[in-house]
Amino acid sequence: MPKRPQDATPSPVSGLPEHARAPLPDELTPLLGNRTPRQFMRRYWQKKPLLIRQAIPKIAAPLARDELFALADQDDVESRLITHFRNAWDMEHGPFAPDELPSVRKREWTLLVQGANLHDDRAHALMNRFRFIPDARLDDLMISYATDGGGVGPHFDSYDVFLLQVHGKRRWRIGAQRDLSLKPGLPLKVLQHFEPEEEWVLEPGDMLYLPPHIAHDGIAEGECITASIGFRAPSSHELTAQFLYHLAERAGETPDGVRGNARYRDPAQEPVSEPAALPALLVERVGAILANIDWSEKDIATFLGSYLSEPKANVVFDSPERALNEQKFVERAKKTGVRLDRKTILLYDARSYFVNGESEALSPKLKKWLPELANSRCLEAKRFVTLTDDSSMTALLHEWYRAGWILMGALP
Ligand code: SIN
Ligand code: CO
Repeated sequence: MPKRPQDATPSPVSGLPEHARAPLPDELTPLLGNRTPRQFMRRYWQKKPLLIRQAIPKIAAPLARDELFALADQDDVESRLITHFRNAWDMEHGPFAPDELPSVRKREWTLLVQGANLHDDRAHALMNRFRFIPDARLDDLMISYATDGGGVGPHFDSYDVFLLQVHGKRRWRIGAQRDLSLKPGLPLKVLQHFEPEEEWVLEPGDMLYLPPHIAHDGIAEGECITASIGFRAPSSHELTAQFLYHLAERAGETPDGVRGNARYRDPAQEPVSEPAALPALLVERVGAILANIDWSEKDIATFLGSYLSEPKANVVFDSPERALNEQKFVERAKKTGVRLDRKTILLYDARSYFVNGESEALSPKLKKWLPELANSRCLEAKRFVTLTDDSSMTALLHEWYRAGWILMGALP
């Protein structure tokens, strides 16, 4: 039986400031239309769309228009400009200097800035409100700016998305159509036949949840800004290819790596008169090598933790310019606490932890504090002080500080 809201067990993330924390599994929340995350996940997640009026009342755009334009000008930020001038779709990839963008007085264009959570604390805090869904599934927070009539055209996405209106109004039309064929020859995915079934105008604070493959079209009514919280949904093909790559790398690392990585040999090869023919023996031998591939559940978890905590290709960590030595780092952190950098991904399971693509064993000592840091993304000063007896903890956090993976101070 589902727990009632007041029975909710306290979670390690409950100490976070309201604007940065996700609702607990059994907490009724306006974010989900006065439902609990458990109710939302059971009834809507991956199943059907949900419109939520005033999910975040009195919301302010995490970034103002000009701040968004400034982000789109950075080399390490992924941005796209989509125009629909004279009824023709066009798309360009950033970075864009502000004077390369069309005038804000011109109708029907939109700027999409991917991964805003990696570059801005307010965007990061907004995304953290959705951490009732595992970090391993959360992808990023995209922010789009559109002038009147602007949008990206009717399309569908292959992943779940929360479309949160943060400034101005946008008219959304959606439909659960089967025909997902796309207009050929366009630089972006636009549906050939869009058959909307429902329509709403979203105002600031309103939010629309869409599961994968629901056709949708959002058109700005006046200037507007929308934040999309997107999810990772790797395809079976991607997972298989990456897992096999992981296994191959592991074979090279094991103590019997030399044997595991032994070269193909064919001492019994006969001379041939048809040199172009693929030797049957080669197929047989390679078949025997491939039949030797085996893996355990631990390998799958290690692969997933490493793969899903891998920073995106454009992520660069900024190490402190003049890093404190370990003693000074500890003294300072005792006063300020520490927090994970916005770009750091820290995951764990019962055996291991995974940080920014690396995996290590989760020793009993680490179990005392690492899951807490991973879930709340910070260790407050008081908590840090209680942990400093453990020199392995301070040494590890000092290493992460020097790599730019953690920062001094509480969550902003
Ligand atoms: C947008 O924010 O303009 C588009 C988001 C989407 O349709 O997925
Ligand atoms: Co979409």
